[in-house]
Amino acid sequence: MVDVILGLQWGDEGKGKIVDYFARDYDLVARFQGGPNAGHTLYVNDKKVVLHQIPSGVFHGGISNLIGNGVVLDPVTLKKECDTVASFGIDLRKNLFIAERTHLILPTHRALDKAAELSKGNQKIGSTLKGISPAYMDKTGRNGLRVGDLLDKNFTTSYIKLRLKHQHLLDNYNFQEDISAWEEEFFEAAEFLKQLNIVNGEYFINSQIKSGKRILAEGAQGSMLDIDFGTFPYVTSSSTISAGVCSGLGIAPHYIKEVIGVTKAYCTRVGSGPFPTELDDETGEELRKVGNEFGATTGRPRRCGWIDLVALNFACMINGVTKIVMTKADVLDAFKELKICTAYRAGKKAIREIPFQMDRIKPEPVYETLPGWNINTGTIKNYSDMPETARTYVGFINNYLGVKVHYISNGPGREQIVQVK
Ligand code: GDP
Ligand code: IMO
Ligand code: MG
Repeated sequence: MVDVILGLQWGDEGKGKIVDYFARDYDLVARFQGGPNAGHTLYVNDKKVVLHQIPSGVFHGGISNLIGNGVVLDPVTLKKECDTVASFGIDLRKNLFIAERTHLILPTHRALDKAAELSKGNQKIGSTLKGISPAYMDKTGRNGLRVGDLLDKNFTTSYIKLRLKHQHLLDNYNFQEDISAWEEEFFEAAEFLKQLNIVNGEYFINSQIKSGKRILAEGAQGSMLDIDFGTFPYVTSSSTISAGVCSGLGIAPHYIKEVIGVTKAYCTRVGSGPFPTELDDETGEELRKVGNEFGATTGRPRRCGWIDLVALNFACMINGVTKIVMTKADVLDAFKELKICTAYRAGKKAIREIPFQMDRIKPEPVYETLPGWNINTGTIKNYSDMPETARTYVGFINNYLGVKVHYISNGPGREQIVQVK
């Protein structure tokens, strides 16, 4: 049995905290896509930790964690993360497993990411510059190197061959930076990676399923950043939706049970691209300040706006969401009035569907306004103690989406979560 937790917006919905919270009910937590572009924040013993590639179940003793074949893995970031995790007394040789089919992010992928973004000028995607797109391009272009290849005695030869191809591309971009220090780090980290548990991911996970183990698949990024269904080209390069779980781990669709979608009580986006409910005003500024909306991976300020039910409805549809978790409800404590986007106006028409190429259509949001609650909700433990206005807000979302909010997160802390009853 496999449950999935994934983001329904443009990433940073609070997936890390939610996975960490629910991990106690599972035997294995697995990442199925993305790479070090992800930044998943958790609090362990009140200490903040940001995970990029290691699954967010890692701080629970007795739970295994798998980096699946659908991930693109940077050994350098992994080594740093492993050091952080090990400082909490976690033995990664026991509870971290890496699929041998996982593609590697090479130093030249990072250089290519940077060169490609620079060449796009003001049309840049706003990539995290972690080498994600070039690494996935080498995967689908059938050039990439995989974790299992590190164990091959000819790895360095294959690496040099691929680097030469990349060098031609970098020359075309007129990219001049010296990356020899990155290469040194890479080979050092690759040696470290070879000491970890490299497994055949698909047999590993299927044997766990067969023996009745409970598995949680942890999404990175968000549905609106999906390579197929996101706001293309302003997306990431992987399948961030529930369909990506099967190809990203090597499991059959019928094993998937719950698809738990995480949304903020409002909405944010980091990087370029359309964002219909974005608030370029004091309210947006207030959301950023109260919500501390700065990227966990790059530190960039996140763009902020009201919750968008047109986009959420779309995300529920393409993922088959069965339960919703609404995070950062406490951030709305400070607001007198709350707006909920229920449709887009495109020209004279009001639409409730995500249009092809939102960036050209530039839809205007149509809002319903609901009263805020203006009390501190951060210490509430029971749904019945939530203010009536907060329950009305949740009820409105439930009715629109036809999928229910089952949990409300009301603070960054591990136990700040309220079950909706
Ligand atoms: P992820 O990428 O989806 O895991 O989310 P990030 O970690 O990038 O960003 C979410 C941010 O919100 C982090 O700083 C979390 O500590 C914080 N956070 C998560 N849930 C809540 C919540 O319910 N309330 C508040 N105030 N902060 C939260
Ligand atoms: P988590 O897992 C928010 C965004 C980037 C950029 C676009 C492409 O923490 O939610 P990429 O580096 O993938 O080539 O960037 O996607 N992006 C994210 N935004 N959260 C993330 O991950 C993101 N990962 C990538 O800002 O707009
Ligand atoms: Mg994040």
